[in-house]
Amino acid sequence: MTSASTPEQLSAEPAGTEKEAPPDSGSGSPAREEEFLYRDESRLRAGAQLTSGTMARRLPALVLRSLRMAWRVDRAATAGLLACQVGTGVLAALELLAVTSTINALIASGDITDRLWEAAPQLAVIAAAAGLRALLGIVVTWLTGRLRPVLARAAELTMIEAALGAELAANNMPGYNDFYDIADRGAQVTPDLVAESQDVLAATATLAAGAAVLAVLHPALLPLLLVACLPQAAAYVRAARVLYLANLETSGRRRMLSKLRWHMAYTESSEEMRACLAGPFLVGRYRRLAASVNAAERRAADTGAWMGLAGAAVGGVASATVWAALLYLLATGRMDLAAGGGAVFALQTATTSVRGIINGGARLVRTGWYVQDWQRFLDNAHGQAMADSRGTRTLPAAPERFEARDLTYRYDGAPADSLAGVSLHVKRGEIVALVGENGSGKTTLSRLLCGLLLPTEGAVAWGHTTTAELDPWEAWRHVALVPQKYTYLPLTMRDNITFGQGDTGDAAVLAACEASGAIDMLPALRSGLDTLLTAEWFGGQQLSGGQWQRTVLTRAFHRQASLLVMDEPTAALDARAEYRVFTGLRDLAKDRAVLLITHRLTNVSVADRIVVLDRGRIVQEGTYEQLTREPGLFRTLWELQQRTGQDPGTP
Ligand SMILES: Nc1ncnc2c1ncn2[C@@H]1O[C@H](COP(=O)(O)OP(=O)(O)OP(=O)(O)O)[C@@H](O)[C@H]1O
Ligand SMILES: [Mg+2]
Repeated sequence: MTSASTPEQLSAEPAGTEKEAPPDSGSGSPAREEEFLYRDESRLRAGAQLTSGTMARRLPALVLRSLRMAWRVDRAATAGLLACQVGTGVLAALELLAVTSTINALIASGDITDRLWEAAPQLAVIAAAAGLRALLGIVVTWLTGRLRPVLARAAELTMIEAALGAELAANNMPGYNDFYDIADRGAQVTPDLVAESQDVLAATATLAAGAAVLAVLHPALLPLLLVACLPQAAAYVRAARVLYLANLETSGRRRMLSKLRWHMAYTESSEEMRACLAGPFLVGRYRRLAASVNAAERRAADTGAWMGLAGAAVGGVASATVWAALLYLLATGRMDLAAGGGAVFALQTATTSVRGIINGGARLVRTGWYVQDWQRFLDNAHGQAMADSRGTRTLPAAPERFEARDLTYRYDGAPADSLAGVSLHVKRGEIVALVGENGSGKTTLSRLLCGLLLPTEGAVAWGHTTTAELDPWEAWRHVALVPQKYTYLPLTMRDNITFGQGDTGDAAVLAACEASGAIDMLPALRSGLDTLLTAEWFGGQQLSGGQWQRTVLTRAFHRQASLLVMDEPTAALDARAEYRVFTGLRDLAKDRAVLLITHRLTNVSVADRIVVLDRGRIVQEGTYEQLTREPGLFRTLWELQQRTGQDPGTP
């Protein structure tokens, strides 16, 4: 770790930022505390252990993997770029050889006209090579312009696929999200890795030519040049490492900044941003965090610049040494003047190539660190890949019974179990209601029953197979879920209902709309089922909160799944719509196992069985008639609702 990462320095406000920041809008927490909330120490420690040597060893594999991806997305452009870069190097080498022999020819004794004639073919080679190199440069720009966006998009897609392939539980792991962000940065810079490796390749080809000339002129020159450049290379790579580590160190804070930006600028929370004064409060928070990130980045830039400067100074001394060696060879007659002329040019070219390799190599190593994070994420999603934690079994037929056996579940990093010793079953044709106070574990249990989470202890069995043994994507074909917190997708009504699955035609979609009450909304939609459900694009229409809930219910009812899980499905519905849903539930349950979570306790009379959860444990189980009669948590809550005549606890 460099000095850039000490906590004291991190908390320092850079000069000039304090007067821009508005007065603290009441959070009371200083910037220093905010910073530490968003730091992943384990990631920082892992990053600090990275050495340039390890990266240098891994680099060829990283470049190869990125090149393979480039090859997959656009063979012609990748092959063309590689060919152009090698071609550029070869032409530069040819040019160098031609220049050296021209100089030799011109310096040699004899008639000047003869010497010029002798040099003419070489001069033609120089002109042709220079012209061709310029042409190849244009082709490289063209091909890069074609390949870069496609490659970046392809890398982005691999990230999305890897994220979708990760356990749901990963979202609760602080380290996971930071690692995702860093890996995502790697995906974005993958095209750079390809371009930088090509630059290094071209510089190496030129260096090879310069080396060949120098080796012939005097065997000591080339090793001297290479040894002299090593300290500069080391300094550049160290500077690149400082910038990479600064990026790691600020990743948590930068993610918070991007979250704040999203909330402040987009529509989802725009009401609170204004009427609840969250906007000005968050702008203040944003300023403070941004200032601390700026300070860390500036420190890294300064350290990097100092290292670069030191490297350049050492490089200058090294060059001077090599030139002095050349002069020494000439002065002592160890090299004749004609050879000396060529050597000057060859040395110039070789030095430029070595600098190109050093600069490109340092950038390559830095990009390599990010790309390595990206590729690691693709390999196992930070240890959260479902492919590693689950089996691949599929079910021969839709399961008849879903059973939780002695379940315990604790969220990652949570101080206590959210569920402990819970057993429950629901079979097709049956409605089971899950009730309990806020935080009692209802949603968690439903996630486990759906196979979204895997139990910490115990098992969830679908028929004879546990959810841990099942291929998750195959398994979820048997689940219809109305989550407590659902997403509004900017797609058409039809897409929002079918999600591209089981699209058996309008009749089935309309039947599901009938059951959820969404059918009443259709006449007001500009293009019926094909209306885009967002006002963000022209032609789209936004739905009300309850209308969205009807749409989400339609999605679940449309699904021919054997497990239907509904978590607070009617919280936003009006009385008529709610009545419709609950009276239609028995019909839906004919060939489905239904798990219903609700705080509206009068509604659970529709259930065959009611299970009452309290602080992660089942405390009561029975029918509506039994539970409203016997003393216990259910009756207490039910009586409170009867007394107030309204529903406490609805979100
Ligand atoms: N994603 C999560 N990460 C960490 N802890 C969680 C997460 N979701 C829930 N919890 C914790 O697990 C416990 C049970 O939460 P759960 O959401 O299952 O409750 P619930 O019964 O559905 O509550 P509500 O009635 O408010 O919806 C709570 O203590 C909560 O803090
Ligand atoms: Mg819940």
